Amino acid sequence: MVEETKLLYKGKAKKMYETNNPNLLIQYFTDNATAFNGVKHAVIDEKGGMNKIISAMAFGWLEKCGIATHFVEENSGREMVVKRLKMLPIEVVVRNIAAGSLVKRLGLKKGEKFPSPILEFFYKSDELGDPMINESHISVFKWADDETMKNVKEIAYKVNDCLSDKFAQAGIKLVDFKIELGFDGDGNLLVGDEITPDGARLWDAETGEVLDKDRFRHDLGDLIEGYEKILAKISRVK
Ligand code: C5P
Repeated sequence: MVEETKLLYKGKAKKMYETNNPNLLIQYFTDNATAFNGVKHAVIDEKGGMNKIISAMAFGWLEKCGIATHFVEENSGREMVVKRLKMLPIEVVVRNIAAGSLVKRLGLKKGEKFPSPILEFFYKSDELGDPMINESHISVFKWADDETMKNVKEIAYKVNDCLSDKFAQAGIKLVDFKIELGFDGDGNLLVGDEITPDGARLWDAETGEVLDKDRFRHDLGDLIEGYEKILAKISRVK
């Protein structure tokens, strides 16, 4: 039985605990919701538990698609057991449809579908507000070597194909999402962190209703109602 020993790290919406197994951590999903790099904040009852369930399902899909992740097993409540990773200091964003910061940056029409996915990289730094970077920054500052970046890109596109397909089966459009990756003790590059509506834009395929954290960011409706709709829809996916 994997048991929590000490708190390793406390993030905006998650806590990581060390366990009695040096290779495993417990990832705890809190009810904190933040937006605009922490400027907007609220505690939303049930969010952590729902994100835990959604993330576990999404990691299960990825494993079925042959993509290795840090997910080991779900505990009850807000916890899951994950492999301990050495994380790359990079956020990888994949976009299928124009939304969010890209719409502002390039003056696009929200909802425009791209002919192929767009890949972006951001440097993980709360202090700097996660600035956008490119592969040249990553290479020069040695945040990841060229071979790793080749694998990161390949994995990101595979994750997009897998999740787009599964969400489509649930009647949901995967607009965009963020993943983080890291190396396990054996040097395998795995998808880590979480896959939740906090870090992915998910629209109802029929009505276009926004079901993800943009409900909180832009006061579009009750957050939990959106997350409940996602959970109900994805529960039907094989
Ligand atoms: O805000 P932006 O449009 O750049 O976000 C793109 C995608 O990445 C969205 O799905 C958003 O939820 C996710 N994201 C994230 N964490 C960040 C920045 C973006 O999960 N720090």
